[in-house]
Amino acid sequence: KKIQAINGPNLNMLGKREPEIYGSLTLDEINKDLAQKALKLGVDIVFFQSNHEGAIVDKIHEMFEDNIDGIMINPGAFTHTSVALRDAMLLMSCPVIEIHLSNIHKREAFRHKSLLADIVTGQITGCGPYGYTMALNALVNMINES
Ligand code: DQA
Repeated sequence: KKIQAINGPNLNMLGKREPEIYGSLTLDEINKDLAQKALKLGVDIVFFQSNHEGAIVDKIHEMFEDNIDGIMINPGAFTHTSVALRDAMLLMSCPVIEIHLSNIHKREAFRHKSLLADIVTGQITGCGPYGYTMALNALVNMINES
């Protein structure tokens, strides 16, 4: 079984970017940890990060064609703005977990609304990098139970 992790804009700057909000781990460190955990859980995990909306939409189309088994996505700021991302995600029938490092509901009003929240399987927000581990465990559970 194969899981795709997607990170949107500015998440390549984790570790340097507002560490008081997003923590000190880099995306590379988060991904290495996820890869190790996936290995133990017996699933494949692949990673994609882009700062470009269209590139993420293209990736979602690719996942659709590949019949991916599960998706975890932190869409960054596109969470709050991208109808294109929402429309692309509507293609997917596998479990999808939306992740935010920070608690988007505790922050500025424009972050409270997620254009994905009502179409994903679940949302994890405010648990820091551990949210990615939670998403992996949840996806593996969902895949094994289906
Ligand atoms: C974020 C929250 C978004 O509002 C923000 O634009 C991000 C990161 C998070 O992980 O907390 O880039 O998705």
